[in-house]
Amino acid sequence: MQKLTGKTALITGGNSGIGLATALLFRAEGAQLAISGRNSATLEQARDALGEETLVVASDAGRLTDITMLMQKVETRFGHLDILFVNAGNSVPAPFAEVTESQFDEMNGVLFKGVFFTIQAALPLMRNGGSIIVTTSISNGKGAPHFSVYAACKAALRSLVQTLGVELIGRGIRVNAISPGPISTPGFGRRWNAPQEVVQAAREAFVEKSPIKRFGHPEEVARAVLFLATEESSYVVGTELVVDGGVSLPL
Ligand SMILES: NC(=O)c1ccc[n+]([C@@H]2O[C@H](COP(=O)([O-])OP(=O)(O)OC[C@H]3O[C@@H](n4cnc5c(N)ncnc54)[C@H](OP(=O)(O)O)[C@@H]3O)[C@@H](O)[C@H]2O)c1
Repeated sequence: MQKLTGKTALITGGNSGIGLATALLFRAEGAQLAISGRNSATLEQARDALGEETLVVASDAGRLTDITMLMQKVETRFGHLDILFVNAGNSVPAPFAEVTESQFDEMNGVLFKGVFFTIQAALPLMRNGGSIIVTTSISNGKGAPHFSVYAACKAALRSLVQTLGVELIGRGIRVNAISPGPISTPGFGRRWNAPQEVVQAAREAFVEKSPIKRFGHPEEVARAVLFLATEESSYVVGTELVVDGGVSLPL
């Protein structure tokens, strides 16, 4: 029995990494699916992998006009949503002293403001019994040098999920977060604009302090998202599910 038969899901950042792995799992579990992202090449690759019936929308997660357009397309195609996975995001490390206002605004626009208004815009489409899942990060609960804006935005999301968990449960909508540790995706390293040796050193440092001694796979996060998306997590509200191989545990 497929777990998402009859369910409709929207995944932002569904053309890469954790979002794509989740999209593939949701399709395998029978969901009707919409995904969004910006990169036209990976959006097309995702369409090929997910099937023609998947709604694939080019939409910038930091632009409110794009968010509105995305929801209009979802409404026109499906009429409603049961699952919203607000996952799009990226991190560009920089020393605190060098972060410019435009870098701050761009990161905040995608990582916090965009998430806030994506949920707000999706709300009229969400059916009773629906589930909203937000991707945070273990960086939101610890010091993360060179990730000041990123980690703060992810901490804001943890707070938002708690507030919306309480505020929306009366409408029958559960809101939770998934908090990944180091996961092997283009988002870890490849998008950092950093020299390869810096990325490699960061990878090795994470593996070294990881109790499980390896990076996670995006599919391992996707399975946790599936849990939060279904009735298997029916009593889970406003929480953050950590998927990090134990990296964030105190030694
Ligand atoms: N990988 C990790 O170690 C890790 C750890 C903790 C949290 N996370 C979080 O996990 C989420 C997914 O990241 P990932 O690791 O899977 O990296 P990824 O493979 O780089 O995926 C990021 C996704 O977000 C989309 N995205 C980024 N900025 C966007 C924008 N302005 N508008 C629309 N889409 C945008 C990308 O689409 P385009 O390529 O089309 O822009 C892509 O689909 C992010 O929220 C990230 O912060 C990742």
